[in-house]
Amino acid sequence: MTADESDVRVLRGPDGTMPALGFGTWALRDDAGRRAVLCALETGYRHVDTAEMYGNEKPVGDALRRSDVPREDVFLVTKVSQDHLDASGVRHALRGSLDRLQTDYVDLLLIHWPSTTGVPLAETLGTMAELRAEGRVRHVGVSNFTVALLEEAQRVSPVPIFCNQVEYHPYLSQQPVLECCRAGGILLVAYCPLARGRVFQDTVLQEIGQGHGKTAGQVTLRWLLQQPGVGAIPRSGSAEHIHENFDVFDFELSEEEMQRIFELHHGERYIGGSAAPEWDT
Ligand SMILES: NC(=O)c1ccc[n+]([C@@H]2O[C@H](COP(=O)([O-])OP(=O)(O)OC[C@H]3O[C@@H](n4cnc5c(N)ncnc54)[C@H](OP(=O)(O)O)[C@@H]3O)[C@@H](O)[C@H]2O)c1
Repeated sequence: MTADESDVRVLRGPDGTMPALGFGTWALRDDAGRRAVLCALETGYRHVDTAEMYGNEKPVGDALRRSDVPREDVFLVTKVSQDHLDASGVRHALRGSLDRLQTDYVDLLLIHWPSTTGVPLAETLGTMAELRAEGRVRHVGVSNFTVALLEEAQRVSPVPIFCNQVEYHPYLSQQPVLECCRAGGILLVAYCPLARGRVFQDTVLQEIGQGHGKTAGQVTLRWLLQQPGVGAIPRSGSAEHIHENFDVFDFELSEEEMQRIFELHHGERYIGGSAAPEWDT
């Protein structure tokens, strides 16, 4: 593996590293969740993304326990829901998550969405830092944070902000957030990296893929991972797709191909609603 290729596989955050390509689990519940996470671990994924809100921490935990992969080899991420952001809410939520995940710690705990009820960010991040000191959380991060919120988080957090998990795919530029993350040494983890499956119909991505013997989805994931400090967490319930999405480490996009994909953006966003802050783009 070249030095550059190792950068594509492993991201260096402010206080540790993380596999750049993770497995998303939203909507994969019960047996489907267990099967998918087991398949992802067998395939080689070592970063699994879940959330209190997904209602699937139990099957994710079951799969981690059943798998031959040691717990310490997996970078496990969960998120505290928007309505549990006060000090006792965060503590209670993490206790529940750890019970369901059947583990003593998570590698990364994220604020799922910024508070809409005025819970001070300093209170939430202060509690998360305490949980980190207690060994129940390895890294502390945020999700769905704008530039203004990220700047505030950096000001008030007693510990480094590891990442900001946001929607990012070829149809949604996250340039301001990405620049802010890079300036602060914060990683950006792309959710909905496959634009919820829409990239597969894209003729530009298909054409680029043909030149490499890859699918439009593999091209999209590679485009994300080739950007410094960017990771991605594609989701799939299909073993074939789970394998396909992990098979992105044996080709490289040229600068020109990267640029063609950057030019596909047109402000298309799939996730938001009343939970969302006022976005930057
Ligand atoms: N922090 C947040 O607020 C937030 C919000 C949204 C999502 N997330 C996280 O990000 C993860 C990924 O986002 P997402 O699940 O919304 O969308 P996504 O990963 O962009 O797309 C998932 C969709 O793409 C399809 N797909 C995946 N691989 C494929 C392949 N190789 N060929 C054809 N179709 C394929 C899947 O269908 P099949 O199952 O049939 O493969 C599924 O319908 C989530 O699971 C969750 O962990 C976080």
